[in-house]
Amino acid sequence: MDASGLRERLARCGQAHLLRFWDELGEAERGELLADLRDCRFAEIARCFRQAVRGSAALRSQQKVDEHMEPVPKEVQGSVTRDGAQLPAWEAEGLLQISQSKVAVLLLAGGQGTRLGVTFPKGMYNVGLLSQKSLFQIQAERILKLQQMASEQFGCQCTIPWYIMTSGRTMDSTKEFFLKNNYFGLQKENIILFQQGMLPAMTFDGKAILEGKSKIAMAPDGNGGLYHALGNQKIVEDMEDRGIAYVHVYCVDNILVKVADPTFIGFCVKQQADCGAKVVEKMHPTEAVGVVCKVNGLYQVVEYSEITLVTAQKRNADGRLMFNAGNICNHFFTLHFLKDVVNIHEPKLQHHIAQKKIPYINEQGQQIKPDKPNGIKMEKFVFDIFQFSKKFVIFEVLREDEFSPLKNADSQGGKDTPTTARHALLSLHHRWVLNAGGHFVDENGTRIPAIPSSEPGMSEAVTAVINDNLKELTDLPVKCEISALVSYAGEGLEKYVARREFHTPLIIDENGIQELIKNGL
Ligand code: UTP
Repeated sequence: MDASGLRERLARCGQAHLLRFWDELGEAERGELLADLRDCRFAEIARCFRQAVRGSAALRSQQKVDEHMEPVPKEVQGSVTRDGAQLPAWEAEGLLQISQSKVAVLLLAGGQGTRLGVTFPKGMYNVGLLSQKSLFQIQAERILKLQQMASEQFGCQCTIPWYIMTSGRTMDSTKEFFLKNNYFGLQKENIILFQQGMLPAMTFDGKAILEGKSKIAMAPDGNGGLYHALGNQKIVEDMEDRGIAYVHVYCVDNILVKVADPTFIGFCVKQQADCGAKVVEKMHPTEAVGVVCKVNGLYQVVEYSEITLVTAQKRNADGRLMFNAGNICNHFFTLHFLKDVVNIHEPKLQHHIAQKKIPYINEQGQQIKPDKPNGIKMEKFVFDIFQFSKKFVIFEVLREDEFSPLKNADSQGGKDTPTTARHALLSLHHRWVLNAGGHFVDENGTRIPAIPSSEPGMSEAVTAVINDNLKELTDLPVKCEISALVSYAGEGLEKYVARREFHTPLIIDENGIQELIKNGL
């Protein structure tokens, strides 16, 4: 194969080094490299690179954005704690929309999960629940349950189509996993997989990085790659054909995600919002979470690194942080708004730059794993489109009920691990049983206290003992898992658990109640 034409073309874009090992490559390897090269439109990539570098330099040189920030106004906020009286009406509205098959869910599942360190898509991960279910299965069962609830309540059949954005890195294994698991009981035609774009990782001076002699280091173009993919994969058209009006977009890694949450959807619909964000209260000033706010009058997510500590520490009269709307990547869009984004605004979105350690092959053909960042990945973010909203709302929910992301491996310890995700789900389900009038007992038949308490006036020594017990509690004295096929959000459990005592571990699923120890499991 004569590579001279190709070499010239690449040289014109400053990428001739990509053919450095061409003469050593066999036919198959050459084919592999050519396939990567076909996916790269280098003139456009160079333009994105220049814009992204300029944007990030401008950000760095800028004063912090503090002076231009204002919190989200009260009138466009809803809250599960402060608006208790309105929740039933919002939920009813959401279920009504679902019953009319006007609601779709869209899962962002194109990420590489580098921090978790798995080679397969994160949705396939099993965090070690009693049922051993994967994240995909948990979400599928929530969809099934909601379809059933809406159908029963309104006496009609309905569908919640599940759009799943994958990437070149996750498409094949995701497809295979769903097929192998018989689509978890959903109908195949209502699960629509589509693929986001990929971009080469670049050196700081704009050269695409070779990860092998015949392989360019390609990475998905960020979860904001969604909007380009919605257009070029004709997903918006598919939504229109199905009569969808509202879309709930969420991340694959939140084990507590309330997929197509009727209360959130109903709230947004009643507010006539075109774009909404679910948020949790930021816990403390230095928590590394982006906050939803207005900057120069436009809604956006401001990262912790973009503001000063003084602003991060500001509090309202009620003691809450002034900028407390913690973004959890959980959004509501009308299809009308999404269409405008795809057709009008998407090309205006710029890539952000993330400095990364990118494995590469050096001039001598050796594989190198750098120990400090050696290049950048270019990514768009899903929340970059808030600025285009004409009616934006936020909906605050409780972190312990709705947000526990899986980001890091257990070996790294700390937060957002398989262990913390598992505990978050099991604790939530434990609380559901208690709220429905059930109790847990230990092997002696003594009730296990829900929350160990420290009495006022206790000695320091006693408090220390209790604190030690609390540490032990992180190993969860009660393990209880309730299938979403039985309960979507804790409803309908009284008939199973009221006035009854259970041994832990406990599973409640479509087969009924199983106390695993009693059953000798
Ligand atoms: P993260 O930014 O946490 O990335 O994604 P990640 O891939 O899961 O993990 P790391 O950073 O490599 O460790 C948040 C959500 O956005 C999706 C992810 O799948 C996850 O649901 N995502 C991320 C995409 O869909 N595409 C992307 O290009 C990046």
